[in-house]
Amino acid sequence: MKKIIIAIDGFSSCGKSTLAKQLAKKLNYVFVDSGAMYRAITLYFLRNHIDWNSENAVHEALQNITLDFEYNDLKGTSDIFLNDENVESFIRDMLVSESVSEVSTIKEVREFAVAQQQQMGNKKGIVMDGRDIGTTVFPDAELKIFVTADVAVRVARRYQELFAKDANITLEEVQQNLEMRDYIDSNREVSPLKKANDAIVLDNSNITRDEQLSIALEWVDEKLKD
Ligand code: DC
Repeated sequence: MKKIIIAIDGFSSCGKSTLAKQLAKKLNYVFVDSGAMYRAITLYFLRNHIDWNSENAVHEALQNITLDFEYNDLKGTSDIFLNDENVESFIRDMLVSESVSEVSTIKEVREFAVAQQQQMGNKKGIVMDGRDIGTTVFPDAELKIFVTADVAVRVARRYQELFAKDANITLEEVQQNLEMRDYIDSNREVSPLKKANDAIVLDNSNITRDEQLSIALEWVDEKLKD
């Protein structure tokens, strides 16, 4: 059975991971949330007071970081481990969200993450979501999807998600963080977020998750026939 690489990119909170997880489940592929890797690195930097403006400090810190994904049967998806600790419940906190885009602009951090991501794609049969998957990590991916949604829709989605964990969070905070990350992610020097020339755009502002999945599965079918 032919297996392909599916690269899913797009702005923050536009449903990339949801789509990637749905596709992986349906196709029995491995799902990788590349953003979780940048978040775990950021968590390490914050916890250990690493000055990420210092090249040396970053270089040294990266030597002490091991990232792994482990499948969680209960959730039906993978959890990220930072030096053998499951950090899934910390990496989406506002504190990490406020710094992750800045940390992700650092060349050595990107090289560290991208090398591991490319290794995970060796055997194909993988769905990875992020910002630079179709452009940098897997430029030869058979299927590239660029997901987008209206800002208001994205803010509302993220707010719902975060409010469930922290009732003090405000809509303004969420909106500011989202807009800031979109700006930094799109304007950084090293592999900025941009649509790959051969990516297909999927705007999910006004469609359901099931509709989104059906559309993407049709694209997968076409690629599997090629
Ligand atoms: O997908 P996410 O929102 O969890 O990603 C968090 C941050 O990580 C995002 O703001 C930018 C960075 N990121 C990146 O630079 N490249 C990727 N492939 C994935 C995420």
